Amino acid sequence: MREHQKGLWNIAPSEGAFLRDQVGKVRAQHALEIGTSNGYSGIWIALGLRETGGHLTTLEIDEGRARLAEENFQAAGVASLVTLRRGDALELVPKLHAPFEFVFIDAWKQDYVRYLEMVLPLVPAGGLIVAHNVTDLRDQLQDFIHAVQSNPQLDTRIVNAGPGGFSVSIKRAPRD
Ligand SMILES: C[S@@+](CC[C@H](N)C(=O)[O-])C[C@H]1O[C@@H](n2cnc3c(N)ncnc32)[C@H](O)[C@@H]1O
Repeated sequence: MREHQKGLWNIAPSEGAFLRDQVGKVRAQHALEIGTSNGYSGIWIALGLRETGGHLTTLEIDEGRARLAEENFQAAGVASLVTLRRGDALELVPKLHAPFEFVFIDAWKQDYVRYLEMVLPLVPAGGLIVAHNVTDLRDQLQDFIHAVQSNPQLDTRIVNAGPGGFSVSIKRAPRD
């Protein structure tokens, strides 16, 4: 895929392996991805879900990339583990039903803070919110990085599993 489908902003293979392992660590049953593109990162997430028995909902606004992703999910043998919803994630996310123990944010960078606000109520304590490009696009993601690092509901670290960089936020249990 990475050789034949270029210019689709895919994460690096090492980053994909990291996502797969994180899905396994939280034993995710329900995963959400915002920004499918051609499905490369979604396939890695689905490989984790194959081990946990979970399912991925992934959101993509672009019709061509969504079609390509469907083909790639089939070719990778993970189509039964993935539901792709084509449309604007800013409209789709508020209509989704919780819980999602694993959320991956990788759409347009100016919307990350809004996605964080939308997904936070959908994630149970112990769940993970992972966002891409906090290292290579750090300047564009200043507000988001501040939001995940200062939110008392989240425990956040930055992980450079590849060139993009992930913020990895665990949702804390509510205090009495
Ligand atoms: C960085 S690419 C995703 C790459 C993918 N996660 C991967 O690594 O294989 C971002 C994708 O988010 C999609 N996107 C941007 N804004 C969106 C929105 N509001 N709703 C749904 N998809 C959106 C873009 O069309 C694009 O395909």
